[in-house]
Amino acid sequence: MPSISKKGRQMPASPIRKLVPYAEAAKKRGTKVIHLNIGQPDIKTPEIALDAVRNHTIEVLAYSMTEGSETYRKKIAAYYAKNSIAVSADDIIVTTGGSEALSFVMGTIMDAEDEIIIPEPFYANYNGFATALGVKVVPIASSIESNFALPPIAEFEELITPKTKAILICNPGNPTGYLYSKEEIQQLAELVKKHNLFLVADEVYREFAYDGREHYSILREPGLEDRAIMVDSVSKRYSMCGARIGCLVSKNQEVIQTALKFAQARLSPPTFAQIASEAALDTPQSYFDAVSKEYVERRDLLVAELQKIEGVKVAVPQGAFYCVVELPVSNSDDFAQWLLEKFEMDGETVMVAPAAGFYATPGLGKNQIRIAYVLHKDQLIKAVHILAAALKEYNVQ
Ligand SMILES: Cc1ncc(COP(=O)(O)O)c(C=O)c1O
Repeated sequence: MPSISKKGRQMPASPIRKLVPYAEAAKKRGTKVIHLNIGQPDIKTPEIALDAVRNHTIEVLAYSMTEGSETYRKKIAAYYAKNSIAVSADDIIVTTGGSEALSFVMGTIMDAEDEIIIPEPFYANYNGFATALGVKVVPIASSIESNFALPPIAEFEELITPKTKAILICNPGNPTGYLYSKEEIQQLAELVKKHNLFLVADEVYREFAYDGREHYSILREPGLEDRAIMVDSVSKRYSMCGARIGCLVSKNQEVIQTALKFAQARLSPPTFAQIASEAALDTPQSYFDAVSKEYVERRDLLVAELQKIEGVKVAVPQGAFYCVVELPVSNSDDFAQWLLEKFEMDGETVMVAPAAGFYATPGLGKNQIRIAYVLHKDQLIKAVHILAAALKEYNVQ
């Protein structure tokens, strides 16, 4: 057989999915697996979005415009205006999920071997997009001790080389749940201006900011018009992960026009999903208030229950719906596998995401896991009790 590509071999497997065969085997044995490992919300998609598709009378399901339908882009711009972000429809390219926007951004601003600095732990698929494009991820460690706040700017400066093109942040963070403050964004703004870099922000969890904290988008920062590129998605905001709609937003028209060429190669984003996403923009504020209240309650419960377990450290999330948890184990990959292969409590076990896969620096995160609190509260409590019992048994082995 002819050999597959070096890139193909280097392409990282998802740290979230690699334990799936063990979970499947546990289920076949009759063990119920509570999934704390995936970010698929259990929240209902707004009816208004589903109705728009149900009631549509399309006769030819045609391609849409490469950059996304004009009515949808205008409505997205109006949504941003409500969020104090001043952009026009021309500053937006609708993409097939935030995922496609991320790979368009990297393709637009980076050549092979260029470097992008990303605070770690970070959304593991950034590694995948970077590998596919031959781009080098340069991690900068943030720590659970500081709740995963922005690392000191001086540490960023030490990592900047002639190959550095951009800094990428996820705000609020997956897996950290950390919400960057306006001051932190402003520090980054100064840094990218000083070193002539792009600042890319993955803001797909923008709506999930808790405790009265306000999300500060990089697109709100004056003076950053040529450097700021934002990635967004309907996946989590409206619990519409399967729609596969996101967007890339920038005031820099050269960025937009270049990204458009990548977009032209894939013709257009999905038509029905744009109809649903456009309608979703009319979702009443009461939906978000209820969702936010639910996540805050889940977070509070999860953190309180986890803190009762000896030797466990939790970074309290301020946004999104994930948290990184440090466990009294030396290797959370082994522990996560053991949970699925060897442990059960009353016929149930839990599946967690080992955190090492969210770090680019080898060795970091080895005693951490990521928990997604996308389950009902009673399930979450049960899951933490299972985790506590499992840790006791694992540590006396
Ligand atoms: C931080 C972050 N960015 C981007 C994405 C991609 O989302 P999608 O392609 O569904 O819009 C995800 C999905 O989980 C995510 O967590």
